[in-house]
Order: sequence, then structure tokens, then C-alpha cells
Amino acid sequence: MKLLFIGDVVGAPGRAMLQEYLPLLKSRFQPDIVVVNGENAAGGRGITAEIARQFFEWGVHCITMGNHTWDNKAIFDFIDDEPRLLRPANYPPGTPGRGYAVVAAGGRELAVVNLMGRTFLPPLDCPFRTAQTLVDELRTRTPLILVDMHAEATSEKQAMAWFLDGKVSAVVGTHTHVQTADERILPGGTAYISDVGMTGPYDAILGMEREMVIKKFLTGLPVRFSVDEKGRKQLNAVFLELDDETGKARTIRRIRVDDDHLWSG
Ligand SMILES: [Fe+2]
Ligand SMILES: [Fe+2]
Repeated sequence: MKLLFIGDVVGAPGRAMLQEYLPLLKSRFQPDIVVVNGENAAGGRGITAEIARQFFEWGVHCITMGNHTWDNKAIFDFIDDEPRLLRPANYPPGTPGRGYAVVAAGGRELAVVNLMGRTFLPPLDCPFRTAQTLVDELRTRTPLILVDMHAEATSEKQAMAWFLDGKVSAVVGTHTHVQTADERILPGGTAYISDVGMTGPYDAILGMEREMVIKKFLTGLPVRFSVDEKGRKQLNAVFLELDDETGKARTIRRIRVDDDHLWSG
């Protein structure tokens, strides 16, 4: 199975990049399944039903989220009706929505699991224990399992990857919006990258207008950030090839699309 995972889509510039480049990425890499992190898709804050619908129309199979899941309050009206839209699985029991999905393609099934770290982020239930329970259950159905580990600390993301090595096909990090160059396949067959990076503004700070971010660092005063709508754009992703029988990863390849890179880091 071939998989394309696209990192945090930020605002209108991120959506424009996804719409423009998804057809090109599909023809270049021929993925069976496309997964996108959409936690910043609506103006940097959450996602709307309309945006999720567009993503699915463009050929996205599953959308993962993170700490910004609930920023657009309307999500409470549609998350329970959309099984392809995930929020981190380690929210406490009773939280609306789902933390995993099973996506079918070409006669095979891929389980997608969304988790959120607890270091420098709101403390949810333990992502490690949640992962253990969920993965044990999902492995009775399919060996092909992709985990989006949405977390700030590289240590927590590495710990999750080693914890799940040999049990899932891939652990890909999101949230920091900066692609890391540490992609590898662990000895047990789990592909890993600390962060896939973001999709959206390129001459900005994590997708936000840089003037406001710099002002905040200079003054320490509260500042409202907005997505940089004017400048150049980027897309960051990883391409994975998995063994259908064992679920082990064969390839993990970084993809960067911006004015300095095309396809690969
Ligand atoms: Fe994000
Ligand atoms: Fe995040």
C-alpha cells in the first residue's frame, strides 16, 4: 500500500496548495490513500464542514486534527456525522468524534489513529496507554496502521515511535509545522518522522503573519495572530510504502514543495 500524508494545512493558502498540488502528487507518487492533518485549515483555527467536504472531494480519504480541533465551535455539529474526520483518540471518554478510522482502498484496509502528546500541550489521557489498547484492537483487523502523533516534543514523538515499533506501519509527527530531517524505518519496521511540516504560508512564522509574531516576542503583550494570506506558499508531506502482508514500512520519503524545493528534502 502506498500512502501520502500531508502536514497541517493552514488557512486559505494551505487549502490552495492542497488543491493545486494534490493532483500532481497523486500522479507522481500514485498513493492508494491520502491523509491530511486539517487542524488549522479554517483560518488557522480548526476546520469547517465545508472545508472537510472539499478535502474529501479533492481525493483526501481521512483528516486528522490536534490541539486546534475545537477552535471552530461548529465542529460539534458535524464531527459525530463524519467518520473520516478524526480528533486525538486520547481525549477522555465521552468526547465527541472519533480517534481512529479504518479506510479501505484496493481491497486492503488502513487504520488511521490520531493521538496527541501531553508535553507543552493540554494534558489529555495517556497517549501511550490509549495507543496500546487501540493498536492491539486494530491489529486483529489489519496490519496496516498509520499513527498521526500530534505533539510538541520530539522526545515524546520518538518515545511513541519506539513504543509502537513493530506494531504499526508508521508514526508521523505533526503540530510543530516544521519538517524534520530524521525520517527512518525503525528495526521493527515502523516508519517514523518527528514532524511532517505544514502546508500553507512559506514566508511566515508557522503560517502566521510574521510581524505580529515578532511583536509578541518583542513586547510580551497579547497579540492576535492571523494567517499570512499574501506571501509565497509551501506544502510538506511524507510518502510511505507499506508491505500489505506484514504492515511493515518499506519506504518513508519526505516531500517539500516550495520555491526552494520540489518533491524531496
Ligand atoms: Fe498545526
Ligand atoms: Fe497543533
